[in-house]
Amino acid sequence: MRSATLLWFLGTALAAPSKACGSCKAYPGTEAWPTRSEWTALNDTISGRLIQPILPGGVCHEDQPNFDEAECPTRQSEWASYDWHSTDPVSVMYDNAANWTCLPDPKDPCTGEGYPAYVINATTTEHVKAGVDFARDNNIRLVVKASGHDFLGRSVAPGSLSIWMHHYDNVEFHAGSFQLNGTDSVFEGDSISCGGGTSMYSLYQETDKHNTTVVGGGAKSVSVGGYISGGGHSMLSPDYGLAADNVIEMEVVTPLGDVLVANKESNNDLYWALLGGGGSTFGVVTRFTIKAHPTPKMQFVTFMAATSPSNPMAADIVTFLASQFPDLNDAGLRGYGFMTMTGFDTGVEGVPTEWAGISGAFTVVNQSVEYTESLFTELNNTLLERSNGTGSVTILPVRTYNTFMEYFDERFDAGNAGSTALLKSRLLDRRVLTNDLDALKAALMAVINVRGLMHFYPLAGKAVHEAANGGRDNSVNPGWRSAYVHALTSMGFEPFNRTAEKEAQALLKEAWEPMVQLTPGMGSYINEAAYFEENPAETFWGDNYERLLQIKREVDPMDVMWCPFCVGHEHWEQRENGQLCRLAGPSRMRFREN
Ligand SMILES: Cc1cc2nc3c(=O)[nH]c(=O)nc-3n(C[C@H](O)[C@H](O)[C@H](O)COP(=O)(O)OP(=O)(O)OC[C@H]3O[C@@H](n4cnc5c(N)ncnc54)[C@H](O)[C@@H]3O)c2cc1C
Ligand SMILES: *[C@@H]1O[C@H](CO)[C@@H](O)[C@H](O)[C@H]1NC(C)=O
Ligand SMILES: *[C@@H]1O[C@H](CO)[C@@H](O)[C@H](O)[C@H]1NC(C)=O
Ligand SMILES: *[C@@H]1O[C@H](CO)[C@@H](O)[C@H](O)[C@H]1NC(C)=O
Ligand SMILES: *[C@@H]1O[C@H](CO)[C@@H](O)[C@H](O)[C@H]1NC(C)=O
Ligand SMILES: *[C@@H]1O[C@H](CO)[C@@H](O)[C@H](O)[C@H]1NC(C)=O
Ligand SMILES: *[C@@H]1O[C@H](CO)[C@@H](O)[C@H](O)[C@H]1NC(C)=O
Ligand SMILES: *[C@@H]1O[C@H](CO)[C@@H](O)[C@H](O)[C@H]1NC(C)=O
Ligand SMILES: *[C@@H]1O[C@H](CO)[C@@H](O)[C@H](O)[C@H]1NC(C)=O
Ligand SMILES: *[C@@H]1O[C@H](CO)[C@@H](O)[C@H](O)[C@H]1NC(C)=O
Repeated sequence: MRSATLLWFLGTALAAPSKACGSCKAYPGTEAWPTRSEWTALNDTISGRLIQPILPGGVCHEDQPNFDEAECPTRQSEWASYDWHSTDPVSVMYDNAANWTCLPDPKDPCTGEGYPAYVINATTTEHVKAGVDFARDNNIRLVVKASGHDFLGRSVAPGSLSIWMHHYDNVEFHAGSFQLNGTDSVFEGDSISCGGGTSMYSLYQETDKHNTTVVGGGAKSVSVGGYISGGGHSMLSPDYGLAADNVIEMEVVTPLGDVLVANKESNNDLYWALLGGGGSTFGVVTRFTIKAHPTPKMQFVTFMAATSPSNPMAADIVTFLASQFPDLNDAGLRGYGFMTMTGFDTGVEGVPTEWAGISGAFTVVNQSVEYTESLFTELNNTLLERSNGTGSVTILPVRTYNTFMEYFDERFDAGNAGSTALLKSRLLDRRVLTNDLDALKAALMAVINVRGLMHFYPLAGKAVHEAANGGRDNSVNPGWRSAYVHALTSMGFEPFNRTAEKEAQALLKEAWEPMVQLTPGMGSYINEAAYFEENPAETFWGDNYERLLQIKREVDPMDVMWCPFCVGHEHWEQRENGQLCRLAGPSRMRFREN
């Protein structure tokens, strides 16, 4: 066994490109790294758009060239904003994603080692292609950053060349019809084309000018690149499917440097893989063309369905409430909810601060205020009956917004960035939510009792089940095609502390184990998921993985694009020093066993 593995390893090393140091990607400081003049030559081909990143947190560190004591407090407050990170060439939303490389705190170390070595500020397909070609020809690790919102840390890597898509954000509306590139087919209906780094907010603004909107996410600066390629859930998913289900066509620079257009008819394999298979894997998408839908009227409602935490039936009541969501979702209710057994101050006058139940911000599309209220009257009645009068529903007055834009401008996700945290999530279908309430109760309580709350997003349902030909037309996790709810929790931990990180992982893993056992085949949504899932292939893509891997091998035989947990991640590993190296064996598992 041992000698066979050794021979295999030698074979790999010998077969590696000559410029590669052994079986690793070129890394700053190693001989294989391009010379200064080679970088300058690249810069010349892209009109001087190559950036050597300045450490954004450096303003707070005396030993950094950009140290600026007066600027430090400003940077610290910007650090907490989602949008600010998306305007920086390298900064990302979650501090642990960049290995805490340089936080804006003078007390912390600041090295910059977690960030890319160079960044291309791309605004055209030619810039993107120049970057992909350079990375491939020089065996350099390539990353793509749009907003840097990624929870898995896929948009940043040490010693890499990064293609920064934030300014590739042109938008063009097509009224009435759209001619598919390279075919005779025409898409009938409104649509919008946009650059591969376009933010949600730009899309909403442009489509709103035409009384339409798109299936999009809850925060202004989430960008199309990662959001759509991972699936993309939305307040409008129950009506129109996931964001990936709404893509008509994409332009993509493949890892081999080809500029292709992928739609249902041309480059169909790539079209299938890019929609659901995850970001930075099959190429850099430079343009998306997405369906635009007539803007709906939105009824917005905040509610709390709860009992007292001291009620001995509290866990049953919370479980019963969860079980109502497949029907409520079918009746039109969707949104961002959370469940708790202890409660907290919602800031709403007249509701308790200690409560066990479900609360959150929900909408109903194209219905009346009365209809919206009636959903809660019904829920109230069944809850009163079920709880012997110990639980009830409170709603705030329903707010009507005439367009999606009006709704979004007041209700967008304005949370905080700049933290150190983990996520864990699962998709829940009708079966798990209604079949065996005792088992559901055990699974919900296991999470809630550890984390205090569980996010509970009924954002799937009918249109997601039926969209994209029931999911056959793209590679989104098949779990979505029966899901009603995307359930997740996050957990913060102490920065720089790998022991604390491991403990947090173990705690989340244990808390979710009963839910994982209860939901075989459902898996988890890659864009809001754990970076410690043990079987990412199965968990994020289920039966689609095999075909995804085959397409990955075809479009990227040299693994120009690589990210942890992404399709084809199995053969490489990031070492302690940050360098990416090929694993000496057919797979990580096999190697470790030997
Ligand atoms: C505040 C917040 C709100 C969110 N709300 C929602 C929501 O409502 N619905 C939802 O489904 N998800 C939501 N998410 C999750 C979101 O979908 C992911 O964070 C997603 O990865 C963001 O994509 P991005 O392009 O903005 O981020 P990035 O971190 O820049 O990119 C994410 C991944 O996509 C790759 N990528 C980016 N652009 C391209 C491109 N043009 N071509 C190829 N690869 C590319 C990157 O390399 C990386 O792998 C939210 C996240 C946050 C932080
Ligand atoms: C690229 O060229 C521009 C314009 O000449 C220059 O300002 C910039 O510093 C160069 N980038 C690098 C990394 O040298
Ligand atoms: C990136 O390019 C955009 C568009 O040309 C420009 O406005 C911006 O200043 C550039 N950013 C950096 C950091 O070079
Ligand atoms: C088709 O796509 C290619 C690549 O993006 C582009 O160069 C070409 O102009 C497009 N053709 C039409 C008719 O739009
Ligand atoms: C959008 O709707 C408004 C109000 O109904 C109407 O006045 C306007 O002409 C519409 N705009 C477009 C571009 O259709
Ligand atoms: C909402 O109503 C508008 C106007 O009648 C209609 O065009 C649109 O298709 C409806 N959308 C949904 C999701 O029902
Ligand atoms: C639920 O019932 C209680 C008790 O009758 C009542 O006070 C409350 O207003 C009802 N809530 C809703 C949303 O109907
Ligand atoms: C509900 O109330 C009835 C009548 O007071 C009582 O007999 C029954 O035990 C209660 N059930 C629960 C589950 O508390
Ligand atoms: C790191 O976290 C562990 C576990 O929470 C804790 O015991 C330890 O004290 C922390 N280390 C430091 C240096 O703070
Ligand atoms: C992360 O940073 C620590 C120093 O804080 C360093 O020891 C470690 O090698 C880094 N890891 C990577 C992968 O960059």
